[in-house]
Amino acid sequence: MSFVQIATALLAATGVVASPFRLTQRSYLGFDYNTEKVRGVNLGGWFVSEPFITPSLYNISGDPPIDEYHLAQALGSNAQSVLSQHWNTWYTADDFATIASYGLNHVRIPIGYWAFQLQPGDPYVQGQEPILDNAIEWARNNGLKVWIDIHGAPGSQNGFDNSGQRDVLNWQNGDNVQATLDVVKYVAQKYGQTDYNDVVVGIELVNEPLGPSLDMSGIEQYYNDGWSAVRDAGSDTGVVIHDAFQPLGFWNQFMTTPNYWNVVLDHHQYQVFSSGQLQMNIGQHIAAACSIGGQTQSEYLWRVTGEWSAALTDCTPWLNGVGRGSRYEGQYDGSPWIGSCAGNDDEIPAWPQERQQNTRRFIEAQMDAYDQGTGWIFWTFKTEQSPEWDLRRLVDGGLFPQPLTDRQYPNQCNF
Ligand SMILES: *[C@@H]1O[C@H](CO)[C@@H](O)[C@H](O)[C@H]1NC(C)=O
Repeated sequence: MSFVQIATALLAATGVVASPFRLTQRSYLGFDYNTEKVRGVNLGGWFVSEPFITPSLYNISGDPPIDEYHLAQALGSNAQSVLSQHWNTWYTADDFATIASYGLNHVRIPIGYWAFQLQPGDPYVQGQEPILDNAIEWARNNGLKVWIDIHGAPGSQNGFDNSGQRDVLNWQNGDNVQATLDVVKYVAQKYGQTDYNDVVVGIELVNEPLGPSLDMSGIEQYYNDGWSAVRDAGSDTGVVIHDAFQPLGFWNQFMTTPNYWNVVLDHHQYQVFSSGQLQMNIGQHIAAACSIGGQTQSEYLWRVTGEWSAALTDCTPWLNGVGRGSRYEGQYDGSPWIGSCAGNDDEIPAWPQERQQNTRRFIEAQMDAYDQGTGWIFWTFKTEQSPEWDLRRLVDGGLFPQPLTDRQYPNQCNF
């Protein structure tokens, strides 16, 4: 038994409180993470564009740009109009109404540092911020809570295209960490105040810092400094920290004293980014999801699986990056050929029945598993042509439960 479990048992025995997690909430927050479950969706590929989500935005030449940094460079004087058009159309007020109609209660909104503060020499263009303001209003009008997620940090915190800059990892060099803190401070000063605290319930300090390659003590220092920056800005909003690709349980001793409050740990769970995962059969995929659920039961902080998908392959074009093929077909990362990607991105009604059933089973198991923590946020609401990553298509195709509590495969994990 851990300390937390012993404490819980003692408190339960005395009838005082049922959960130790209430220690971590202090002051007003527009969502009760102690008693409610997060059911959310990411608004991916919007303020940070991604080649796999909107390939048409990137497929503009025989040598397509690999990330938003290079897209803006390639577009040159057209970058402002092309990206503004994208921001104004990829999500609109109608989408927020649809999201709420699915029974969801959160949207996580990825945005790059460059929306708020350009670095010298940056090719990025701005204009995201007023549209983010609209998005928050649309969320509020539909009863949805918002996490503002700093998805791209100066120099890139992970080298993924979705950080803005692929194949570089310079976040911990020079002034980049301080520049990120300045952005966090700005975001907290604007969106972390009482006029927003009914709707903005989380500021994510940085998305997916690449713990195994970066200095972990530097990441922990950044989380401490980021937490202080938000609180020093007079904000009590949720401070969301990504797990930096550390194992479940790693953060159990972190920010857990009463000196900290309103902290949410963010785990991302995909099963398609190694050949070992891609070789698993559906039973193994479900067992893996259930195992995650079991492990998160004993975590201390509020913890949300802030990204996950229905993908069982890495087949959708440019998922691994522009110009890279799939591991599944043995085209990338030294992976052996595992299977064919033919038909992968066909519309769901055209999928073989077994694939539809497997996908529904996988989705339901993940929902059950991540509810062992504080809930989940699916990646992503819409794509141009990637059904496994596309909540809208999965709902329309009957593979994502509606209502969310509907189960065609109940108790897969026996929780
Ligand atoms: C990019 O455009 C080419 C030429 O039209 C097309 O064959 C290819 O499928 C496109 N790639 C993606 C990822 O959309």
